[in-house]
Amino acid sequence: MRLLILGGTQFLGRAIAVHACAMDHDVTCAARGIAGTVADRARFIHVDRDEPDGLAPLAGKEFDAVVDVSRHPGQVRRAVAALKPRVEHWTFVSTVSVYADNRTPGQRADAAPLRVPTTPEIEHSTEETYGAAKVACEQATGENAFICRAGLIVGPEDPTGRFTYWSTRLDRGGEVLVPGTPDDAVQFIDVRDLAQWIVHAAQTRLTGYFDGIGPSYTRGRFLAECADAVGSSCTFTWVDRAFLESHDVRRWTGPRSLPLWLPLPDFAGFNTRDASPARDSGLTVRTLSETARDTLSWARTAGGPVTGLTADEESTALKAWHASRPQKHP
Ligand SMILES: NC(=O)c1ccc[n+]([C@@H]2O[C@H](COP(=O)([O-])OP(=O)(O)OC[C@H]3O[C@@H](n4cnc5c(N)ncnc54)[C@H](OP(=O)(O)O)[C@@H]3O)[C@@H](O)[C@H]2O)c1
Repeated sequence: MRLLILGGTQFLGRAIAVHACAMDHDVTCAARGIAGTVADRARFIHVDRDEPDGLAPLAGKEFDAVVDVSRHPGQVRRAVAALKPRVEHWTFVSTVSVYADNRTPGQRADAAPLRVPTTPEIEHSTEETYGAAKVACEQATGENAFICRAGLIVGPEDPTGRFTYWSTRLDRGGEVLVPGTPDDAVQFIDVRDLAQWIVHAAQTRLTGYFDGIGPSYTRGRFLAECADAVGSSCTFTWVDRAFLESHDVRRWTGPRSLPLWLPLPDFAGFNTRDASPARDSGLTVRTLSETARDTLSWARTAGGPVTGLTADEESTALKAWHASRPQKHP
């Protein structure tokens, strides 16, 4: 397969290139050359998709399949106009952030309501318009495409440091501040599994709307399996939403956050998406232990980024939590 990845030089795009090369496909990555490096054996073509004629270096080149990871409707419109009529298969990597309803558990890609897309004059997305812009990107992609709405993507080379927080924190051991309750849900996909599925979809000409997501775990199981995988001895101190919010412990990502934490009930549906349509269409997932171990090993060797609470911030929050609890009398 002659595969063109629009992007392909970091995290998911790069994992797709690595896997496709390992499967002996002929792989081209088209990007500006800023974000990262190109996989061994993949070809690089310099393009700038923000320029009106930025895809000109691809003119006259033949591809069987294209994977687009853009988040900007203008880039997607130009790529579809220039390339889609002449390739057999098109993948657009979208996101579960396209969904309008994060509260209802167990939703499926083919039935869940979407956000209102950004208006046609919007070329670029921002952090605030990300989900709505991805809806516009999906619409610009059009019919007869594989629309893969990825959930949280984790694993080696993750530039966001969210899952990496838990691998590295559990590896440190001791008393660990954990949000919510052991029954809360956590859901994600290992970047390598998603990459393999995207290449498989291109090979098999899979089309339609799917969530690219693995199984939903309870947070208790997630933490226990990760701790086991990294060989750590920890105790977990479960802390409720009201305490975390009143002590400026933030949700999901970034400084002062407990990564992967989204408060309930507002996000009861976000981590419980129905993964069975993807599984039935060829997505296979490795074990949580393998993802946790490999992420830790990459973070150690490559010094990969980690986001979230610092050790001092966590210890201060834990002390405040214990001080706020009723004293136990012997
Ligand atoms: N991370 C998550 O947890 C998560 C969750 C859900 C969905 N997603 C989706 O998954 C995908 C992740 O893709 P990714 O990991 O490959 O990262 P990405 O950040 O989307 O990668 C962007 C790629 O496009 C290239 N690029 C950026 N601007 C460009 C321009 N103006 N012209 C040409 N190329 C340009 C970059 O290379 P250069 O900078 O070198 O040009 C890079 O290769 C995205 O679609 C994202 O929305 C991610």
